[in-house]
Amino acid sequence: MYALEEKNLLLEPRQFETAQKKLLEWYEVCGRHELPWRLSEDVYHVYVSEIMLQQTQVNRVMQEYYPQFLEKFPTLKALSEADEAEVLAAWSGLGYYSRARNLHATAKLCPQTLPQTLDELLKLPGIGPYTASAICSFAYNQQVGVVDTNIERVIKRFFALSQPSVNKVNAEAGGFVNAEQPRAHNLALMDLGSLVCLPNNPKCEECPLAFSCDGKNEPEFYTKKEKKVYENLELFYGVCEKNEKIALVKSSARMYKGMLELPNVEPLEEDFIAAFKHSYTKYRLTVKLYKTDDVEGEVFWYNHEEIQNAPISSLTRKAFGALQKAQR
Ligand code: ADE
Repeated sequence: MYALEEKNLLLEPRQFETAQKKLLEWYEVCGRHELPWRLSEDVYHVYVSEIMLQQTQVNRVMQEYYPQFLEKFPTLKALSEADEAEVLAAWSGLGYYSRARNLHATAKLCPQTLPQTLDELLKLPGIGPYTASAICSFAYNQQVGVVDTNIERVIKRFFALSQPSVNKVNAEAGGFVNAEQPRAHNLALMDLGSLVCLPNNPKCEECPLAFSCDGKNEPEFYTKKEKKVYENLELFYGVCEKNEKIALVKSSARMYKGMLELPNVEPLEEDFIAAFKHSYTKYRLTVKLYKTDDVEGEVFWYNHEEIQNAPISSLTRKAFGALQKAQR
């Protein structure tokens, strides 16, 4: 009945069912039911939330982006009819802007609704195995495994999988899904990973799966310990100001396609205005701003108020803040 292989043959079917049941009981009491995207089964809501949550903390998405985005683009149709610059402006500060471009491209391909199978979903821009499975589970309540980093850790520990392949983890997660309540099962595992089965010092005494967790004696053994390597970089941007407006240019970086930014300049000590620190993925940036008179190519002029609704990154937004501070 279950996709039982190797290790979890040790888990009797009866125990398997008990684990599923205990997990749902725990979720009922301790789960994060109030998360706004969980209050909806509208596939568009689920889709937007999953894309936003991929690289961004739950609280930031919940407070600063998800409600505002849905207010601006309440349906797939509304999103499909928007300009890309508007969508990028609503995404401003979230980073990884290809997510917004792909969301927009998918809405244009499917302005009514999203398909209901993994295979069809996987053909859409920006929808990979994780997002496709999350949509099938959370919007359509299908019996599919969902494996994000939290669920991966729970599965590895529960089945004591030491350095398993991605396929192995997916197979175990898929075999463990509760056929009656797949959506709640996956949400429960997600919450268990983020609230109890923590990377360090997991709270096994609170865990509903501890009674048959094969990794309980050595939980740290199953967590990734990749040491982050940071790279320090200096970036130099030009500030060309005319009539209280500042020149922006289209970003030439592929990952910032469609976004605006300050032009790059050669740093000249006498033109220095301000500097600030900024972190982005593995980069620890020192950003320096310099006065400049000439900007090549197509220029877009913005004052400090207009910049609020422009398609810019956090770095450019910070630069406008630093500039304002320096000019006071
Ligand atoms: N609920 C549904 N999907 C989620 C996610 N990706 N992160 C946190 N909570 C969620």
